[in-house]
Amino acid sequence: MEKKLKVLMLNGSTRENGNIALAFREMQRVFDESGVEYESILLGRQAIRGCVACETCRKTGRCVFSDIVNDLAVRFEASDGLVIGSPVYYGSANGTLMSALQRLFYSTSFDKSMKVGASVVSARRSGCTAAFDELNKFFTLSDIVICSASVPPVFLPRRLTDTVRPKYNGRRKKGFPFAAEVFDYADHICAARRAGL
Ligand SMILES: Cc1cc2nc3c(=O)[nH]c(=O)nc-3n(C[C@H](O)[C@H](O)[C@H](O)COP(=O)(O)O)c2cc1C
Repeated sequence: MEKKLKVLMLNGSTRENGNIALAFREMQRVFDESGVEYESILLGRQAIRGCVACETCRKTGRCVFSDIVNDLAVRFEASDGLVIGSPVYYGSANGTLMSALQRLFYSTSFDKSMKVGASVVSARRSGCTAAFDELNKFFTLSDIVICSASVPPVFLPRRLTDTVRPKYNGRRKKGFPFAAEVFDYADHICAARRAGL
C-alpha cells in the first residue's frame, strides 16, 4: 500500500481562527483532496521559552526544558512535510514560534534532508518578506526542500478575513491573489509526494 504523506503544520499565532489558521485551512483542503495527512498545532498561546545554549540536547537528544518542543520533535521526525506559519510581529516572525523552532531544530539530530517545507506569513501592512525569510532559514539550514511559488504566500488580513473570505468558495478565485499562492504551496507538497520525496 502507498505510504501516506504526513505534514506537520505549526502555527505561531495566538488565534485559532486568525489569518494563519485560515491559510492553513486552505492548504488543508488541498491536502484532503490529495490524501495527505496533516496535524496542525497552535503555538502562540503556549509558554515556550527560548534556547539557553546549554547543549544538554547534544548529550541527551532532547531539549532540557519540558514543554511542547520535545513532543514536536517526535511529530516532526515522523512527518514528511513541515508547514510553518507566523503572524508578523514588529517586522519579524512572532517570538513564541521562533523560540519553539530554534529549540526544535537545535535539539534534534534526526535526518531532515528531503523533507518538504513551506512557510506562510500574515501581516497588517508590512514585514512579510523579512518574516518569510526568517522562517525559510530553518529549511535552508536543514537540507529541507522548500516549496516555492511564483509569489510568496504572504497576505494582508483584511483581504482575507474581512473582505475576501466571506465571498470565497472555490480555489484560485479572482480577488484572492495572495492566498492563491497558499494553494500552490500545498499543491507542491503533494507533488513532492508523487515524486517520491
Ligand atoms: C505584537 C504585534 C506586533 C505586530 N507587528 C506587525 C508588524 O510589524 N507589521 C504588520 O503589518 N502587522 C503587525 N501586526 C499585525 C499582525 O501581523 C496581523 O494582524 C496578522 O495578520 C495576525 O495573524 P493571525 O490572525 O494569524 O494571528 C502585529 C500584531 C501584534 C499582536
